This record gives sequence, structure tokens and C-alpha cells, in this order.
Amino acid sequence: MKEQTFASETVVSGWKPAGPGAVRLDLGRGAACEVSIARDGAVRLRAAAGGTLPLDPSDAIGREAWRPSSAEPYTGDGGCVLMRFEGPEGQAAVEIGGDPLEIRVRERDGSPLATLSGLAFSPCGAARIALETVSGERFFGFGEKCGGLDKRGRILRMRSQDANLRTGSDPLYASIPFFLALRDEGGRSRALGLLLDAFAPSRFDVAKSDEDRVWMETTAGGLDVTLFPGPRPADVVRRFTARVGRTPLPPRWALGHHQSRYSYRSEREVRRIARQIRRRGIPTDVIHLDIDYMHGGRVFTWNARRFPNPSRLLRDLAADGFRVVTIVDPGVKVDRDYAVFRDGRARDVFCRNADGSPYTLLVWPKTSMLPDFNRPEVRAWWGEQHAPLLDAGVSGIWNDMNEPAGWQRELRIGRLVVPLEAQDMSRVVQADPVAADQRVPHESVRNLYALQECRATREFLEAAQPERRAFVLSRSGHAGIQRHAALWTGDNASRWPHLRESLPMLLNLSLSGVAFCGADIGGFAWSCSPELYARWIQIGALYPFARTHCMLFARRQEPWSFGRRVEAIAKAALELRMRLMPYLESLFRESEATGAPVWRPLFYEFPDDPAAPNVEDQVMVGPALLAAPVVERGARERDVYLPAGTWTSFASGARFAGPVTIRVAAPLESMPLFVRGGTVLPTRTPVRHAGETPAEPLVLEVFPGADADTLLVEDDGESTDYRRGVVARTPIRLFHRAGNRLRLELGARVGSFPVPARTLRVVVRGSPPPRAVLLDARPIPERETPPGFATRDGSVHILVEDDGRAHAIEVDPAP
Ligand code: GLC
Repeated sequence: MKEQTFASETVVSGWKPAGPGAVRLDLGRGAACEVSIARDGAVRLRAAAGGTLPLDPSDAIGREAWRPSSAEPYTGDGGCVLMRFEGPEGQAAVEIGGDPLEIRVRERDGSPLATLSGLAFSPCGAARIALETVSGERFFGFGEKCGGLDKRGRILRMRSQDANLRTGSDPLYASIPFFLALRDEGGRSRALGLLLDAFAPSRFDVAKSDEDRVWMETTAGGLDVTLFPGPRPADVVRRFTARVGRTPLPPRWALGHHQSRYSYRSEREVRRIARQIRRRGIPTDVIHLDIDYMHGGRVFTWNARRFPNPSRLLRDLAADGFRVVTIVDPGVKVDRDYAVFRDGRARDVFCRNADGSPYTLLVWPKTSMLPDFNRPEVRAWWGEQHAPLLDAGVSGIWNDMNEPAGWQRELRIGRLVVPLEAQDMSRVVQADPVAADQRVPHESVRNLYALQECRATREFLEAAQPERRAFVLSRSGHAGIQRHAALWTGDNASRWPHLRESLPMLLNLSLSGVAFCGADIGGFAWSCSPELYARWIQIGALYPFARTHCMLFARRQEPWSFGRRVEAIAKAALELRMRLMPYLESLFRESEATGAPVWRPLFYEFPDDPAAPNVEDQVMVGPALLAAPVVERGARERDVYLPAGTWTSFASGARFAGPVTIRVAAPLESMPLFVRGGTVLPTRTPVRHAGETPAEPLVLEVFPGADADTLLVEDDGESTDYRRGVVARTPIRLFHRAGNRLRLELGARVGSFPVPARTLRVVVRGSPPPRAVLLDARPIPERETPPGFATRDGSVHILVEDDGRAHAIEVDPAP
């Protein structure tokens, strides 16, 4: 991004109402500006140097429309313009000062929430504005970024690009111009979100050059900034994702382990890997096929020699419980004998230079052209190309290289391609995503490229197989990419700092709306050591998206590639994921409903704990699990910070009272994992893949310490029937009763999803033998058949027949 020269700050010379919940400000010099309040209390400012406001992108990129409030502007004391709104979903009070323009958002009690100032435009179409900050305020989010959790003091750029394996590089593949600010107000925290809604490259100066302000700047398209009030981080993320969209519930198999390599190169190799996985009993659902399954990198083709009969291969794999995900890059090889290229050219789907000449770049299949996904007919065309893949039995699509990536010169050494100069797209034009009949420079909409591609992919998958939940994986993305695809963080390396950094990176990505995210387990580039792989898969098995992937020529990264000991560690880690599947699913369900991330920084769950925002090497998986992975070579113990509440070690059942920092042993075989008191964790016995029926499909693991109230939702895990309400719901409540009794109430199951008859196991963790266990107020015998109970491994196991009716279980006394 070039340095811009900005004109002086803007001054308001007049105003008029601009429809429901909005005021139009007259800024002089032909500039346009509008401030509006949404029904949920979000406050938005749109401004442009020319007379026309930036168009609302909602429709164009398939978002929900902006939902205006009924606020009306009026003149307040001292001549400022006021707007207020209060409704069931939120409230906002906005005060606009005129000289220079300043937008102050206040709380109901009049205390300041946010102030925007410094609006200015540059002669070349750039615009900037600042959010005032107080000392100690922290900044999270910003999508996919290197470095620590808090981004205060950093300059961050948003321009999607191939990141080339450098640590600390900025920008990276995905550009999500959103952040969450967290400030402490005398022992209570307050969170606020901000989206700089620009498809053009942008830049954030996070209180670096001016410690009182976060400056943000876009290069084209005017300014479109939305503030999302809290007060809690969860409120901010809920409002932000209501605007940009949420992660649709993935199919269960996509939540299993994905095994990948660049590349499994032939049918024989794929069959061998699949056989090994099953023979060794390593839970895995998905095998990814990287570029070498194609005929010379031609998308939507198969290499006929190495994959002579894809349908048969995929059918056999499916019979063994494997799904296959194939990579699809946007670059279409220029080749007159290749039907996809010929057809695309005939339909004029590819990006051109401003002078009308075709634009080509180098990617894996050598000279290629890029579809312009901003055009709806191109998205439809692109979608249709996937039909043969679906016909062959492919279950999901992996959209790589979609920043878009490419180069101008290359060096080829055998199969290794060394890109020499990044592609030059400065002359490329694309359809304007908002005003489709217009053309705009590619650069001004660049950050949207992947989102539009994944949208095309998902829309096709959903139309072609409406009964199935779709799975799309993307490398690049923009705010809202989660509606279309899961995101992985691209080419990391098999190095300890990359493992360490995956935590804050995924946490910030999660706060930025991308619930379904992960990093390549084991690292992509270079060779992974056994110890690094062991530590990586321990936490990687709890990544929202869990895929092992590595580069061509790197040491193999199948779980058994590092010897028996590490294989057992990997197996145990993936069995834990399988055991936690009902819980993981409940988190994804919650994410679809509220936008809540699956991975959460500690402060998301404990926003008023002043120590929580400093913790960047621990994660909350949902509200209940706290993982403290080992991310240092050679470490066999580590400090763990446990916030307020009761915590139970998942492995040993030992109890701790937080807030406290404890030192815990972490031999190579174990990753410290704690469960928050007051949790009823739905689990099951591990299976090898989603399609297998667990020996015990529902185990409720009870962690005492506080009362709890949850709803267990079950469905078929695969179809879209849940959207029509085909689910089974069981309310579950946990009480700590007088006389030190623990009472677990299972409500009657409701809903049309048929749950097969089963035995339910309730496990009260960390518990000495009780005096009695009661089922529906009657003592049950000590035995391992239902109804009955047994105490072992420091837990009480209670077995009951699950007949779908309401039951109450009491443990006397409680642990
Ligand atoms: C890119 C991807 C990587 C993939 C490779 C070959 O580098 O990030 O995951 O394996 O291309 O397709």
C-alpha cells in the first residue's frame, strides 16, 4: 500500500434525516456522509469524497440486509446532531459534533463508548478515520495475523496474498478488517467491535504512531465503518456475525480428523494410507487430494494414469468410512485442448486487463487464467464445473490459492516449483461486486476474491445436494467467509514458533467470525520432528478444524511416521476428539445460532478477569474446556492459569479452585486439559469415523462445582433436516443440593429425530464412592448394568436405560 496524502479533517456544514435510523451530513467539497443506527444498536458511518456514498454491499455478497432502527436525528445542545435508539436487541445514542466531524457513541447513562474522528480523504480515493482509545485498552481480532493475541502497537495490513512461509509476515492470506477492543472500567470490562467494511486493501495503525487512536485507512471505495457494542466480547461477536454471517453447521464427518499431504499421488498410495489408518485404528474421517490428482493441474480433471477409476476408489473408501476432499484452485490452465478452459473462454468468464486483453499468470498448471467471481453468471458456471467431482463421490472442496496467488516467473526443479515474482494484477479489472454492470480495478475488490469463489462453490454444492451439509475449505477470505467455508491458515512450517503462534492466530480468527478454523497440524513446510508432531497433534486434535497436512518432499506426516510412541500419542489425541464429538457439535450448533466461536480466548469467557487477556498460550474450547498445550521443545511441565471457579483435571480428576496459577506435569503423553466446574459434558465412546456407531453413543460427564443448565441437541449429523427441526432436544440441569447432594435432571426428550434405544452413562468425575445413588428418588444397586452405579478411577459411573422420558439422578453425597 502506498503512503497517502490526506486533505484536512472534514467539517459538517449541515444535515438532514436520511430515512429510518439515519442522518445525512453535509461535509462540503462534495463529500457525502451518513451515520445510521441498526436495530441491534450497531452504529455505522459511511463516507466518500465524491457525492455518492459507498453502496451497501449486503445484497451483492449475499449478506443479510442492514436492519435500520427507527431513530430520528435532532439538534442537541451546542448545535450537535443527536440520534438515539432503544429496542429489545440493543440501544445506541449517537452525538455528532461538526467542527471537525466527531461521532461520539454513548451508553444509556451518557458515559462514552466510542469516538470516531479524523475523517479525511486523499485525492486518489483513499479515506481514513480514527477510533479513540484509552491507555490499557487492548485490541483483538483482525482475522488471520502473526504475533501475539493483543495487537496494540502494531501496524496491520489487509491485502490478501500468498504469504510465502515467512514468520511475522503481514499481510497474510485472509483479510478480515474487524477488531474487538477490550477496556477495563474499574474492574469491569467493556468490549466494542469495529468492522472496516472494505474490499480494497486497508491498513490499521493500532495505537502505534498515536497512542490515543487506532487509525484505519482504505485505499478505495470510501469508508464504511460499523461499531458493534458489547458490553461482553460475546455480545460484540454476536452482533458482528449477525451482520457478516455465521458458520453453517458442518457435517459431522468434517469435524473428524482430516489426513492430507501434498500430495497423495496415486490411487495406490491413497488406498495404502486408508488401509494403514484403519489397521492402526487412528480415528480419521477425511483424506484430502492435493493438486497431483489432477491431469497436469487442470482443475476438474483426474490424472487418468494415476487415478484410473476415481468413482470406484471413492466408493471403496466410503465403504471404509472415508470421505474425500479434493483441492480446486481458481487458476484455469490455458490449454486449447482442455474443455473447462475452452468453455470458460467462450463464455468470457476470465479476468481481463483494463485494455481488454486477456490476463494470464503462472500457477501450478503453468499459464492460467482467473475467473471473475464477482459476476453471478461466472459463479454459476464455476459451480457447475464441480458436477463431475460430485458424481465421482467427492464430499467436499478445498479452495486454495484464492488470494488469488500466482507469479510471473518460475523455476521448476522436477516437481518443485519456485515462484520468482509475485503476479502483477495492477492492470486487471473485475466486475464491481456491488454495481455489477460496472468494472473496477481488481485491486479495489481484491480481498473479496476468495469469498466470492467459495460462495460459488458452496452455492453449487448446496443446490446439487440440498439434503447434505456442504463442506468447503478456503485459504483466503474476507469478513463473512465463514458463511461459505472453513479456513486454514495456509503454509506454516514444522517449527515450534509456528505451533505456538497457531494459538493466538486461531483465537483472533475465531473472534473475527471464523469459527471453523485450523492450522496444518505438524506444519506444512520442512520436516517435523517426532516431539513437535506429538505436541502439535495434542492441541491440533482440538482445533475447530483438524487437518494434518505437509509439503512435498517433507518427512511424511501420517501419525505413524514418527514411531510407536508418537503414534500412540496421536491416536489418543484423535480419540479424545472423537469422544468429545457431541460437545464439539454443540459448539458448532451454538456458533450457527449466535456466532459464538468454538475456540475462545480466556477473556471471552472471563471478561472481568484482569489476568485473562494476557493469556495467549491457553484456549477455551467452548465454555467448558481449558486446554494448556505444551508448545516448547523439551518442556515436560508448564504453568496453567485457571480463572475463578472450580476446575477438574480431565486426566486425573484433581480439583482446583481458581483464580490460581498452577504448575502441572506434562509428560510427552499428556496435554494439560481442565474442565470448568458446573459442566455436563456430552461425550461418547470414540469411534474411528463419523459413520460408525459408538458402543456408548451418549455419555454425560459431570464436573461439579456450579449449577448448570444446558440443552442437548441430537440429529443425524449429516443432512440438512435439522434446519426443518428434525432434531431431538433434551434439557439437562445440574443442581448442588443441600446435604451435599448432586442432582442431575434429564428432561423428557422432544423433537422428531428418532434416537435409538440406548444405555446412558453418567460419569461424575473426580468423585469418591458415594453413600447412595438414586434414580427417580429410588436407590439403585452398585453394579455395572442399568440401572446401577460403580465407582472407579475416581469417578462414579451411573448406567440408566435412556427411554427418552424425564429422569432425575442423585448422588449422595456429592464429590
Ligand atoms: C499451497 C497450499 C498448500 C498446498 C500447495 C499445493 O501452498 O497452501 O496447502 O499443499 O499449495 O497445492
